[in-house]
Amino acid sequence: MSKVKTAFFCQSCGVQSPKWMGKCNACGEWNTFVEEVIQREEKGSMASGIRDPRSVVPVKISEVVFSHEARINTHDQELNRVLGGGLVAGSLTLIGGEPGIGKSTLMLQVAMKCADQKILYISGEESDQQIKMRAERLGSRNENCYILTETNTEAIYRHLESLHPGIIVVDSIQTLQTDLIDSSAGSVSQIKECAAGLQKYSKITNTPVFLIGHITKDGSLAGPKILEHMVDTVLQFEGDRNYGYRILRSLKNRFGSTSELGIYEMNDTGLREVSNPSEILLSQRDEQVSGIAIAAMIEGQRPMLIETQALVSSAVYGTPQRSTTGFDVRRLNMLLAVLEKRSGFRLGHKDVFLNIAGGIKVDDPAIDLAVVAAVLSSNQDSPVDSKTCFAAEVGLSGEIRPINRVEQRISEADKLGFERIFISRYNTKGLDFKRYSIKIVTESRIEDVYRKLFT
Ligand code: TYD
Ligand code: MG
Repeated sequence: MSKVKTAFFCQSCGVQSPKWMGKCNACGEWNTFVEEVIQREEKGSMASGIRDPRSVVPVKISEVVFSHEARINTHDQELNRVLGGGLVAGSLTLIGGEPGIGKSTLMLQVAMKCADQKILYISGEESDQQIKMRAERLGSRNENCYILTETNTEAIYRHLESLHPGIIVVDSIQTLQTDLIDSSAGSVSQIKECAAGLQKYSKITNTPVFLIGHITKDGSLAGPKILEHMVDTVLQFEGDRNYGYRILRSLKNRFGSTSELGIYEMNDTGLREVSNPSEILLSQRDEQVSGIAIAAMIEGQRPMLIETQALVSSAVYGTPQRSTTGFDVRRLNMLLAVLEKRSGFRLGHKDVFLNIAGGIKVDDPAIDLAVVAAVLSSNQDSPVDSKTCFAAEVGLSGEIRPINRVEQRISEADKLGFERIFISRYNTKGLDFKRYSIKIVTESRIEDVYRKLFT
């Protein structure tokens, strides 16, 4: 009888230890060690049956033949953009997101669109009936899309050998289970082993694999951090469930930039690609309301105009509240301190709430001036003209600072019919004012912007 071997694994970082420990030495988390049964067979572990046909020897980097890395078109422009121009053969992509955000919908939609590839959708979460129902709802047909409802990786590899799919989607990595390990599906060792097997498969056969992964309550990908290290690309699918928009963000990408965003809108027939984000990020309104200012932002390579909404009111309780959605609350506190100290606006005893429209999270500093304008407008209770927008950072001394790629922002605002844009006075180098029909206002102090807006 074989002896059952157990070990303790940190559920946070995946570190293995022969005995239980209160604190993980590797990641410093407390109380994360869980006992798991391990039964490693050295021979035939991971993706058994798949052998690397190549005999690998060291080669000079100058002699490596670079076949121009052909990108596989996923037929989803937003996904292509986030991946850095399409899917790379032999790559492993992890897609994380909260339950119900639309990960399965997105991947099934891609599977249905890729008619030029044999694509296998492996689901451990839903039955083929349920997947078919969803596909019907998406309203697309694809003769080349196969469904496999299997969670045992050994069985999956057997099917892969006969089917030879061009793209594989696994929904989700937490449901997979290999016979090599006795612990239950979703445990650290199972996730690690299954992902390692798939990684090996994808590298040897040059097949791109998408792994759908769950997210824990605190927003990190469930399972070991090691999963994020193993894959080539980590995409996060996010958005507020109350809004229709979904944002696909790349957190790690070995083949492209991580600053790209994909924007979708969830409707009755699946996810619609939003190629012009400003259309959804600006709310439609006729009457002028106070507390709203528009920022000309850049996310990744793409300029977009986005609405910031502020509400300033007298604090009911002793300590004023500051709360934000989509914007760093510490940055708001800093901007309020600048307004108070440098520009003499009395906001210290006011509650301030700030909201970025559309549930988007912003970290472009160019939004600062719009935030300041929205706060002042609400405080003043007088609206900012709806055809005005802002693109500048605000410094600690109250100066209005230049930002990068200002021309791109100006031409986007111009294209969308804005009539006036506020930028920093120091941002005008090489700027051709006559090229645009939008009026470009250059300022260096908040007080001057205030005067132009409200007096
Ligand atoms: P799903 O893809 O199942 O989420 P995940 O796999 O990330 O858990 O998304 C399900 C949600 O999307 C569900 O709340 C219903 C909604 N939905 C639509 O609004 N329209 C659609 O066409 C589809 C297929 C789903
Ligand atoms: Mg799902």
